[in-house]
Amino acid sequence: MSHAEDHEGTRRDFLYYATAGAGAVTAGAAVWPLVNQMNPSADVQALSSIIVDVSGVDVGTQISVMFLGKPVFIRRRTQEEIDEARAVEMQELIDSSSENPNKPGTDAADENRTLDENGEWLVMMGVCTHLGCVPLGDGAGEFNGWFCPCHGSHYDTAGRIRKGPAPQNLHIPVAEFTDETTIKLG
Ligand code: FES
Repeated sequence: MSHAEDHEGTRRDFLYYATAGAGAVTAGAAVWPLVNQMNPSADVQALSSIIVDVSGVDVGTQISVMFLGKPVFIRRRTQEEIDEARAVEMQELIDSSSENPNKPGTDAADENRTLDENGEWLVMMGVCTHLGCVPLGDGAGEFNGWFCPCHGSHYDTAGRIRKGPAPQNLHIPVAEFTDETTIKLG
């Protein structure tokens, strides 16, 4: 083999591999978004649900946890708060529809918004339905539930909008008890 042939052969091989490599990268880039949507990676799946230990939450207190980048209020209500919420008639509500994905097809009656039968546990997105501020809790506002100071929205002890510009009750995330002291969100 001459020197020239040797050189040419090397160059041809080089071009061949470079082209094949570029083709593989292009195909990979085109296929990836589709695969990514259809088949979420393990860390994305892990983020779509979280486990919350509520064993330390006393009656009359609440905790806030971050879920999918937003605050979630988990409140353990007093009997007084439960009674107050259950005494409200549907026609008194601004928003009587249910946003509860855990009890689809129900209205905004208090018993349809809580996580447990007794109505002790209320789990809601901590996001005002007006423009998205985080409302204050622990009996805040004129209806002893939550109050959004941004533009003055008052929510009752079931997180239902009762006065102010917010159009909807505080939303309820997908949630369930996995045992007596553990709530799974998502
Ligand atoms: S954002 Fe809550 S009242 Fe406007």
